[in-house]
Amino acid sequence: MLEASRRWRSAGRSIGLVPTMGALHAGHLSLVDAARRENEIVVVSIFVNPIQFGPNEDFERYPRDPERDAVLLGEAGVDAIYEPPIAAMYPPGASTRVRVGGVAEPLEGKARPGHFEGVATVVTKLFAAVQPDRAYFGQKDAQQVAVVKRLVRDLDLGVGVRVGETVREPDGVALSSRNVYLDPAERRAAAGISAGLLQAASAYAAGERRLDVLRELIRARLAAEPLVQLEYAELVDPDTFSAPGTLAVIAARVGKTRLIDNLDLSKPAPG
Ligand code: PAJ
Repeated sequence: MLEASRRWRSAGRSIGLVPTMGALHAGHLSLVDAARRENEIVVVSIFVNPIQFGPNEDFERYPRDPERDAVLLGEAGVDAIYEPPIAAMYPPGASTRVRVGGVAEPLEGKARPGHFEGVATVVTKLFAAVQPDRAYFGQKDAQQVAVVKRLVRDLDLGVGVRVGETVREPDGVALSSRNVYLDPAERRAAAGISAGLLQAASAYAAGERRLDVLRELIRARLAAEPLVQLEYAELVDPDTFSAPGTLAVIAARVGKTRLIDNLDLSKPAPG
């Protein structure tokens, strides 16, 4: 990968990277489209990164479909798929980890100890191998975006971090590789998450500025879904992920599946 990237760079060609864990959906492909528009070369990495999964998480059963992914990326016109084996990323003896402080600590950082360390480490390694000018991340994982931006600034990585809007199903559910875990009843209940966010956004648009009132609207909407166990619903600053702020972030369990979603209430509501 590094050899190919060096050739492209010495030929003066700009490189866009879309890091993924595969099982691609329209959310991933929207990032590929954005990368295509802004770069001469587009690389998509597919790597289910073991070190960002906790011991009781879904690493083993995480959906994998490399053949289908390759077809989709071929149709999308990417220049390279970077799919390193685990042993190439983490050979015996590898012991360096990248830990971001501050923004990586609350919410997802607290709920998933070690998760962002795994993300920051693999993103640093992907940047080293691909040498991108720009890298593309989805707003769906808003705290990941803030962590990667912090990482790039703090380590002077010189990569432009671009953020793509969350792509949703017609009923509002954010596309996620993990949605395949949901049975039909859970899938219907999951729509309560985005519905709660949209309700808060409407209230905000109508002039409601009391953050505790907005937060309670979201919690009440989710309390109406017996299949949804809310883990947190908070209103935070999108850069620091501490309260107060207008970014509404939710984590919830629907059956055994953990889902996250978010919406900036101060931005005009989508759809
Ligand atoms: P993964 O979950 O495969 O997501 C890859 C990228 O797609 C992330 O930037 C994510 O935010 C974005 N994405 C996911 N669902 C989306 C949606 N509905 N709309 C728009 N973008 C969406 O996130 C990861 O992988 C990993 O943590 C990774 C960054 C690859 C590091 O291992």
